[in-house]
Amino acid sequence: MKELKLISHSSNDTMEISKSLAKFLSIGDTAVLTGELGCGKTKFVEGFLSFYNLQDEISSPTFTIVNEYITNNINIYHFDVYRLSDISEFYAIGGEEYFEKGICLIEWGELIEEALPEEFLKITFEKDMNFSDNRILTFKAFGEKYEKVLDRFRGKKLI
Ligand SMILES: Nc1ncnc2c1ncn2[C@@H]1O[C@H](COP(=O)(O)OP(=O)(O)O)[C@@H](O)[C@H]1O
Ligand SMILES: [Mg+2]
Repeated sequence: MKELKLISHSSNDTMEISKSLAKFLSIGDTAVLTGELGCGKTKFVEGFLSFYNLQDEISSPTFTIVNEYITNNINIYHFDVYRLSDISEFYAIGGEEYFEKGICLIEWGELIEEALPEEFLKITFEKDMNFSDNRILTFKAFGEKYEKVLDRFRGKKLI
């Protein structure tokens, strides 16, 4: 299983990392963002959106489950499934139909694991006990498609 670990030293770093990743994802791709509250999952999405100049429009989807960013070229769907009481709620909103229609970034996606596409990218966020602004981001490919994404992403100079 291919894995890539990056250390972010600030919220800006996190946004730069996700902006860099955005280049390698396209329609039909899904990334699960996992990690405790305050680890930077939403910041990561903000950076990702900045690749498409959509960063000013971000709002947390905590109360709506999904925020949709529709552009001429691509749709980006930002989910936060933390508050779903049950996976059936995800199916009820037609959650699975989003996967093919754009790029899906799913905070707490591990909670809806059985509904996820067969292949996806998982990004785990962890705090560093010693430095309050440090975050360890671990990228793990589930499926060949994302192993290739990680190979290309790894080759790029990051922060
Ligand atoms: N390295 C970092 N990466 C991301 N966020 C950071 C970092 N250092 C500090 N922060 C702060 O941590 C908070 C992360 O919040 P948020 O992105 O909403 O987390 P989550 O969505 O995981 O709950 C923000 O207030 C952000 O400014
Ligand atoms: Mg969040």
